[in-house]
Amino acid sequence: GKVGVLFGGRSAEREVSLMSGNGVLAALKSRGVDAHAFDPATQSLGDLATAGFKRVFIALHGRYGEDGTIQGALEMLGIPYTGSGVLASALAMDKQATKRLWMSHGLPTPKFRMLRADSDWNDVVADLGLPLIVKPAREGSSIGLTKVTDATMLPAAYARAAKLDRDVIAETFIEGDELTCPVVGTGAEARALPVVRIVAPEANYDYQNKYFKDDVRYLCPSGLAPEVEAEVQRLVVESYRVLGCRGWGRADVMLSHANGKPYLLEMNPSPGMTSHSLVPMAARAAGISYEDFALQVLADAQL
Ligand code: DAL
Ligand code: MG
Repeated sequence: GKVGVLFGGRSAEREVSLMSGNGVLAALKSRGVDAHAFDPATQSLGDLATAGFKRVFIALHGRYGEDGTIQGALEMLGIPYTGSGVLASALAMDKQATKRLWMSHGLPTPKFRMLRADSDWNDVVADLGLPLIVKPAREGSSIGLTKVTDATMLPAAYARAAKLDRDVIAETFIEGDELTCPVVGTGAEARALPVVRIVAPEANYDYQNKYFKDDVRYLCPSGLAPEVEAEVQRLVVESYRVLGCRGWGRADVMLSHANGKPYLLEMNPSPGMTSHSLVPMAARAAGISYEDFALQVLADAQL
C-alpha cells in the first residue's frame, strides 16, 4: 500500500529533516515501495487523513515531529507509524524528563540543573563545575547549545537557549570520547548496532560539523575495547527500554576520560538519516545498507 514519508516540518531542525526525508524517500522508492513525500509544515493534517497512506515513515526531527505530537495525530487517524509512540517520544524529546527517568533507574547521566533568567550563576557553576553545557531542553542537532568555560558566559548562553525553549538545561560537561549508538527493535527484541566514535576538530561537533563539513572523523568500528563497546551497548539498550522507545532510536553518550565510565546524554527517537548521519553509518558497519535499514524501520511501523 501507499506509504507516506513525513519530513520537513516546523522545527528548528527542518533543514536536517529535509535531508533525512529525501534520503529515506529515495531509498524506499528504489526498493519499489509506493512512497510519497508529505510535509506537515506545508500540507494539512486533513490531507494526511485522506491521502490513503497505509503506513508512514516519520523522518521529522524536533518539535511537532519527534515529540509525540505527530504521533498523537497518527494515532487518532489510525495510521501505523515508525518509531516511538506518543509518551516515549515526548519523554525522549525533553532532556529534563529523560534525565530524571534515567536517574530514577540508576542509569548514569551528567548532573544537571534547570536554568531560569534569575538563576544564581555562581551557584550553578559551584554545583556543576566548568566546563558545563547549556542547551534548550527540547532541541536537537546542537541548536542553541553553548559550551560554557567561564561563569561570565552563562547569561548569554542562557539567553541563546531560552530563545528556543522556555526550559533551559545546564549539565556538567564530561571530558571524553563522544559516542553514539543506534538501537533497533522493540521491548525484549531491542538491540544495539555498533557504536560510532566521533572525532571532531577541537572536539566541536556542532551543527555545521554535523551536517555540512567533512572534517569530522567517524570511527565505526569504534576502536573501543570490546568490553567497553559492550558496556555502552548494554547501557543504551537499557536507556531505550526504560523510556519505552520502540522501532528505532539513537543514544548519545560521553565516555569519561577521568573515570572511563559512559554517561548517557540523550535519546533521539527520530534520528537523522542524512548522508552525514550516524545511524546509517552504524547500520552499514553491521552489514545493513541504507535502503535495507529504511525498509526495516518501515516494516516495524506500529499503531
Ligand atoms: N537530532 C538529529 C536529527 C539526530 O539526532 O540525528
Ligand atoms: Mg539530539
